Amino acid sequence: MAETSAGVKPLSLAEYTTLTNDELDTRIKAVREMLGDRLLILGHHYQRSEIIRHVDLTGDSFALSQAASQNRACDFIVFCGVHFMAETADVLANAPKNLAARDGRRVFVALADAEAGCPMADTASLEQVETAWAELAGHFDTTRIIPVTYVNSTAAIKAFCGRHGGLACTSSNAMAVLQWAFEHGNRVLFLPDQMLGQNTARNMGIPREQTCLWNREQEQLQPQTPGAGLTDCRVILWDGACPVHLKFEPGAVAKSRHDLQDVKVIVHPECYPEVVGQADFAGSTSMIIDMIAASESGSRWAIGTEWHLVERLAGQYPDRTVTTLGRVEAVCDTMAQTQPANLCHVLEHIAAGTPINQVAVDEAIAPDARVCLERMLAAR
Ligand code: 13P
Ligand code: SF4
Repeated sequence: MAETSAGVKPLSLAEYTTLTNDELDTRIKAVREMLGDRLLILGHHYQRSEIIRHVDLTGDSFALSQAASQNRACDFIVFCGVHFMAETADVLANAPKNLAARDGRRVFVALADAEAGCPMADTASLEQVETAWAELAGHFDTTRIIPVTYVNSTAAIKAFCGRHGGLACTSSNAMAVLQWAFEHGNRVLFLPDQMLGQNTARNMGIPREQTCLWNREQEQLQPQTPGAGLTDCRVILWDGACPVHLKFEPGAVAKSRHDLQDVKVIVHPECYPEVVGQADFAGSTSMIIDMIAASESGSRWAIGTEWHLVERLAGQYPDRTVTTLGRVEAVCDTMAQTQPANLCHVLEHIAAGTPINQVAVDEAIAPDARVCLERMLAAR
C-alpha cells in the first residue's frame, strides 16, 4: 500500500458525530482533493443523499463490482454500502491482473461503516450450505448442480460456488446467469434469496412445480407445490430473503393502483413473486432509476424498493409523481447506518496514513470467490 501525506490528525468516531454536516462536508472534500485519483469512493443507490453527494461513483451491485474489477489506478477504495459489497470490491480490485498492473500494490478496501452488514447475506453460512449440499447428494447428482449465489452473500459462499463450478449473479443479470448455469448443468442451487430465485425462474418459464425449497431450520428439501415430487425440481431455492423488500406485501400493488390513477408500478425482484407478478416492471436499482429518468413529465410511479432511493427520485423529478409502493417506507437500516461522520472518520484515517475499517478477504478463499465473480462478469 502506498504512503499518504501526514498532517491530518483524525478524531474519534464519537468526535466526528459532534461536527455539523457543513464541517464534515468541508473535511471530506479536503481529503478527496488531497488524495485525488488515489482514492475511489463507491456508493450504492440505497445510501443517504448526504453520502451520495461525496461518492465518485454510484451504482447497483453489478456496476459497482465492475468498477472494482476495472480499477487499475487507485490505492484506496472506500465503500459506502454493506459488507458483502466491500468484500466483492476487495476480491476484484486485487485480482492478479490488477496487481500486476500496479506492480504488486494491493488496493486497501475500507467500509465506511464497519458494522454495516446485509441481513439477507447472513441467512446463508458456509456450514449451512455445506450441510444442504451433502443432503442434496441424497436426491440428485450434485456434479450436475450449478450453485448460483446472489452477490448479497459472504465471500465464503462465493468461494463455495466457485469451487463447485458455479457463479454469482446480481439483480440485473440473474436471467443471463441462470441461462449460463443450465448450459453447464441440469439443476441450480440458488443462494440465498428465495424471491430473486423464484422470480428469475418464472421469467425463464420454469413453473413453480419445478422449484423446491431448502428449509434451513428443518434441514430438509421441500417441494414448493403440494403433491409435486423432487425429481422434476430444476431450481433449488434457499429460504433467505430481504426483510426490507418483504415489507411490500401483495396488497400493496392494489393499494397503489387504487390511490393513484394510471400509476405504473416498478419493483425490485427481491419482492415477493406475487408483488413482482402484479407490478408493471421489475428490475435492479439502476433499471428503476433509468425508467423514472426516461419517463414522461406528469407520469405517476409507485416504487417497491428501499426508501432512500425512492425519496431521492421523488426529489429529482418533481414534475412526476414518485411514491413508495403502497405507501410503505421500507428503510434498509444497515445501508442507512453510514453517515457523513463515518465517511469522514475513514477518510481522515487514510489521509493520516493510519487506514481503518479494512475489508480484506482471506487469501484461503479469495481465489475461488474471484472465479465465482469473474464467471458472473463474463456471463452477462
Ligand atoms: P441492486 O444490485 O439492484 O442495486 O440491489 C442490491 C441490493 O442490496 C438490493 O437490496
Ligand atoms: Fe440486504 Fe435487503 Fe438491505 Fe439490500 S436492502 S442490503 S438485500 S437487507
